[in-house]
Amino acid sequence: MIKIGILDTTLREGEQTPGVIFTENQRVRIAKMLSDAGVSMIEAGHPLVSEDIYNGIKRIMELKNTGEITSEIIGHSRAVASDIDSAASLNVDRIAIFYGISDLHLKYKTSKTREEVLKIIENSVSHASSYGLKVRFTAEDATRADMGFLRTVIETARDSGADRVSIADTVGILTPEKTKSLFNSIMDIKNIEYDIHAHNDLGMAVANSLTALESGATMVHSTVNGLGERVGITPTQVIAAAIKFHLNVDVMDLTKLAELSNTVEKYSGINNSVNMPITGKYAFTHKAGVHVAGIINNPETYEFMSPSNFNLTRNYTIDKFTGKNALKNKLQSMNINASEEDLIYILDLVKKSPNNFTDNDIVEIMKNIER
Ligand code: COA
Ligand code: ZN
Repeated sequence: MIKIGILDTTLREGEQTPGVIFTENQRVRIAKMLSDAGVSMIEAGHPLVSEDIYNGIKRIMELKNTGEITSEIIGHSRAVASDIDSAASLNVDRIAIFYGISDLHLKYKTSKTREEVLKIIENSVSHASSYGLKVRFTAEDATRADMGFLRTVIETARDSGADRVSIADTVGILTPEKTKSLFNSIMDIKNIEYDIHAHNDLGMAVANSLTALESGATMVHSTVNGLGERVGITPTQVIAAAIKFHLNVDVMDLTKLAELSNTVEKYSGINNSVNMPITGKYAFTHKAGVHVAGIINNPETYEFMSPSNFNLTRNYTIDKFTGKNALKNKLQSMNINASEEDLIYILDLVKKSPNNFTDNDIVEIMKNIER
């Protein structure tokens, strides 16, 4: 079996969604739910950012120390001693140090030469390692960096004590083809494991993340509901389902995804769209008569995985797109005994109406027929 896992960063990247601020209690609750769902790693926040984030991670580490949380807990950090020391003081399992390595970032963010950047990576990673904690280095904006320099960055981070390097597609410009080519160009570097951190600016974060895993990455970053800077990153619920379906690996308990999604929707105040894959209200709701007729015979006709995999239920709507098979099945499911004549009558009403028919509407129609 392939050794891969999910790093959920709802508490770090997810809170970088415009408008989202979690409370300390919400932070702890989300971490506990993610751990119960079996994610390998939780990026719990950047402790130096604010006191409540620091305290939230502190409480998460208390649960980690009593065994109530089992996921590896990560503190985020810039490549500066103050950030690293703050994360280390919480005794997190791992410190993740990021630094923008594209020439654009060097020129316009940090005004550093490539040589200076390598020195900063060496100093910060070895400083974090000196605490005896695991260290990941994140090559921020790796997908716009010079490939030769990226390789040197990876080797420098590894030689300074990092066991993992995250390849961050910070502006979301990868395609699956480019993802594969990038990983093919770094997989020969020995003694390092890769994370993929894919932003969704072109809607390809899931595809790029899956391709990275197929190309040798072993940890995928995701957030519940796909939260994150701008339009967010890979949604946890979608990548977990994709990994199960395409790679047949259980990275987490899929039956916990809907509850996680609802909880994060509530805490974040960001409404889930009804057509969100897997956990959206319509993810397993069918409409067209031809589809529903197929579903009634065998749900696999229009579903690649069953809603029961996610502890969800299948549904279908009744409106002018409905056919007799769907209507008949609907009436049966409501324990309504309708004659063939009734069926034709109801279908005719439905076809002439611009409305969606609820179960109550159908009960009312039957009452009228009886009268
Ligand atoms: N490592 C080291 N330094 C970095 C860096 C990195 N990876 N990325 C940016 N920097 C530097 C910048 O060059 C800039 O330096 P300057 O102060 O000399 O101009 C500074 O960090 C960022 O600017 P600013 O945010 O204005 O500095 P600040 O000291 O007021 O605040 C934070 C720093 C981190 C506390 C604040 O930006 C914050 O709360 N950020 C939220 C977390 C965050 O930004 N995360 C990004 C995750 S990708
Ligand atoms: Zn990001």
